[in-house]
Amino acid sequence: SCSVASPADGFLRCLLSAKIPSELVYTQSSTNFTDVLASTIRNTKFLTNATARPLCIVTPADASHVQAAVLCGRGHGVRLRVRSGGHDYEGLSYRSVRPSEVFAVVDLGANLRAVRVNRLESTAWVDSGATIGELYYAIAKNDSRIAFPAGECATIGVGGHFSGGAIGMMMRKHGLSADKVLDAKLVNADGDLLDRADMGEDLFWAIRGGGGGNFGIVLSWKIQLVQVPPTVAVFNIAKTVDEGAVGILARWQHVAPVLPSDLTIRVIVQGQQAMFQALYLGACDSLVATMGDQFPELGMTSADCQPMTWLQSAATPFISFGRNGTLEEALLSRTAGQSSAGKIKSDYVQRAIPKAAWEEIFSWFTMDGAGFILLEPHGGFMGSVPAAATPYPHRHGVLYVIQYIAFWQQGGDGTAATAWIGGLYDFMGQHVSKNPRRAYVNFRDLDIGQNDGTPESGEVWGERYFVGNYRRLAAVKAAVDPTDYLSNEQSIPPLR
Ligand code: FDA
Repeated sequence: SCSVASPADGFLRCLLSAKIPSELVYTQSSTNFTDVLASTIRNTKFLTNATARPLCIVTPADASHVQAAVLCGRGHGVRLRVRSGGHDYEGLSYRSVRPSEVFAVVDLGANLRAVRVNRLESTAWVDSGATIGELYYAIAKNDSRIAFPAGECATIGVGGHFSGGAIGMMMRKHGLSADKVLDAKLVNADGDLLDRADMGEDLFWAIRGGGGGNFGIVLSWKIQLVQVPPTVAVFNIAKTVDEGAVGILARWQHVAPVLPSDLTIRVIVQGQQAMFQALYLGACDSLVATMGDQFPELGMTSADCQPMTWLQSAATPFISFGRNGTLEEALLSRTAGQSSAGKIKSDYVQRAIPKAAWEEIFSWFTMDGAGFILLEPHGGFMGSVPAAATPYPHRHGVLYVIQYIAFWQQGGDGTAATAWIGGLYDFMGQHVSKNPRRAYVNFRDLDIGQNDGTPESGEVWGERYFVGNYRRLAAVKAAVDPTDYLSNEQSIPPLR
């Protein structure tokens, strides 16, 4: 029969008649559907029957398959969620919070994950479905002097990560991943395949930090690689409150953002302890000298210092915690690392928080449900980039970003952890950026607002992620996707 019974049937027939091989399409009745869906669900709280399921998952193997998915989706009233690494903290790459939404997942992680390095140019083309561990490995396995600035967890997908900017241990020296993007290939909401020259500079600006799922489906990125010394140095120093953690942390706020950009010291606060973790793009003796000169309060000595290659630093528990085994296991396994249920929130700090306030903050870490916070310094190169140069606006004047992390075991209800993170976040309001209270789009948080169909609802959360860049993003959206086909709970609404 030729009658189309539902959007789902019509969409599926359209995909197959567009010559997408049927083995690349998983419908809800496919044997492997649940496994494929779950394969990169990072936040296990969305691994439940209560999570709305896509009507199918398309695992494209080339650009034409992605173009077909867009055209068929538009033609049959099916929305698309794009998934690369599935690390979205709110699961927006594979689930919908809108009760009646009919949607399919375009999963780039399965078959679009090549990395092609051009060593002469010191550039690479990386597919969105690659993980950053695969990227790090491909660029540095044969040459310990080249590297790339991106995040600290090997399983993160390139597609979502670059789309939101991507902060990491080398951003003070080299900026965000998005700052190093030279070109990109994208399928827009009309199903056209565009590179930088075709898409124009406004759209190219928007995809480098304006958040995933908004402006098109980015298939691959051309990136500028960076130089690192063949040996770098790391340390990991824990201080308890009894050992003076509060005072050292208060001091860290003044020091970390103005250190030489070769040195990044981030902090994890958990329990009654602050863990100072550093990456230095240089040798141990010069690190010890710099620390003695600029941050003697930490008491770092040569015994704390571990030399290694940059690639090892990207794979080591010092930086990317929870990993062991070989370099290959740490960087290339797509299932390595811990998976748990969690809730994440973020803040930016522009004025150092007084020591007395840190004493109060530490008391939150003795409470029921307490998680941890991760503080990552800006400054250096980050502070030299104008706020409007890319959508990521948190540049000059930002001391550091705070990531709040509450977690619980799969199957638990997370009540205590959720209450803890909400309470701490409320308490922190007095100490962090205001008007707007800033947040980082890659630390997705639906509590700060969701689209309700009006452009005004986008401003509520959008100005917190993008500050003065929000309006330009909404204008780009109006130009490239005026009917808002690529949309989700926190996608940029078209400017009217
Ligand atoms: P996922 O596939 O879930 O996509 C995220 C969003 O982007 C979704 O809205 C999705 O639709 C969209 N999208 C995905 N692929 C796209 C494409 N090809 N084109 C257009 N849109 C696309 N961040 C950071 O900056 N530094 C860090 O160190 C870390 N560390 C970290 C550790 C862990 C354990 C987690 C879970 C997360 C982080 N993050 C992070 C946050 C991370 O950068 C963020 O979740 C990214 O969006 C993840 O990208 P994925 O492709 O994995 O996500």
